Amino acid sequence: MKRIGMLTSGGDCQALNAAMRGVAKTLFNAKEDVEIYGFLDGYKGLIYGKFRMLTGSDFSGILTKGGTILGSSRMPFKLMREPDENGLNKVEAMKQNYHKLQLDCLVILGGNGTHKTANLLKEEGLNIITLPKTIDNDLWGTDMTFGFQSAVNIATEAIDNIHTTAASHGRVFIIEVMGHKVGFLTLNAGMAGGADVILIPEIPYDINKVIDAIKERHDRGSRFTILAVAEGAISKEDAKLSKKEYKKKLENYTYPSVSYEIADQIAKKSGMEVRVTVPGHTQRGGTPCPYDRVFASRLGSEAGKLILKGEYGFMVGYKNREIVKVPLEEVAGKLKMVDPGSSIVKEAKMLGISFGD
Ligand code: F6P
Repeated sequence: MKRIGMLTSGGDCQALNAAMRGVAKTLFNAKEDVEIYGFLDGYKGLIYGKFRMLTGSDFSGILTKGGTILGSSRMPFKLMREPDENGLNKVEAMKQNYHKLQLDCLVILGGNGTHKTANLLKEEGLNIITLPKTIDNDLWGTDMTFGFQSAVNIATEAIDNIHTTAASHGRVFIIEVMGHKVGFLTLNAGMAGGADVILIPEIPYDINKVIDAIKERHDRGSRFTILAVAEGAISKEDAKLSKKEYKKKLENYTYPSVSYEIADQIAKKSGMEVRVTVPGHTQRGGTPCPYDRVFASRLGSEAGKLILKGEYGFMVGYKNREIVKVPLEEVAGKLKMVDPGSSIVKEAKMLGISFGD
């Protein structure tokens, strides 16, 4: 008999359900007695003992369903060590609820912050298996996270749709793409959508170079320019600020991004008409794309295999086209970022895309 807990934590994304279904189907098909308990709303469910038993029917029909059947929440790692408003020790509470249910393992689906807590629980002696979830693709130890490809599709479609209206009106358009502090989503959607300028956090931009790129295009006869701008894009000047100073600057934005400031600067310095489009959380919503359905199912299935073998303490990831297991301590606390010297960036530049650097 195996007793498994499951939870989804942090910002949701496509294919969370497909991944959980992958784990569950693998365990159920192994013909071993299995009980699966789903903790509700991320780590909160584990802390406060909010869970329900999941049976085969819970996993039926969810392969294509976006979001998470368990609900999710954000619980920053630094708050995990602090007692809640009633003085409850969260880490101890999680351990107690795990042991009360006599779990053999807890499957945790999440991104960066989630992995720090998952590793903490491992250090506290719990059996943990994690799955890499995030549209940002910024998780260390895996070449790809599920949700990323679906988000690339949605952001690309947003750029595609803007192309026609930008061309009709001869405007400069900024499409702001999610990705938190990294540029994988913007880089990939920008290239797929034929953006002329791509601004990502890993390559600080010079606004004058951005404007030069737009002017050059217009001098060559193009009526419009498309910029794919990561929500975390940063100018060369701002990159010199301390973390505290930059945070203060961001507080002045209506939406914590630089897109509107960039639009303003372009309009003022070039005299061109500029518009900003923010697809926002649509990038995390809706059904997973076929790639993510397959990918998340494979990761889930491998997680199920590890559980059946009793191998714990790993994230199931993807490296060099192989599904791999990565020790949790190697994943936790590290951010994967776009390498400005990587071949994809060089190729994008050879295609004539400006990074404003
Ligand atoms: O981590 C996924 C993500 O969608 C980021 O791209 C974005 O910065 C953030 O979450 C938004 O978070 P929230 O849903 O809490 O507003």
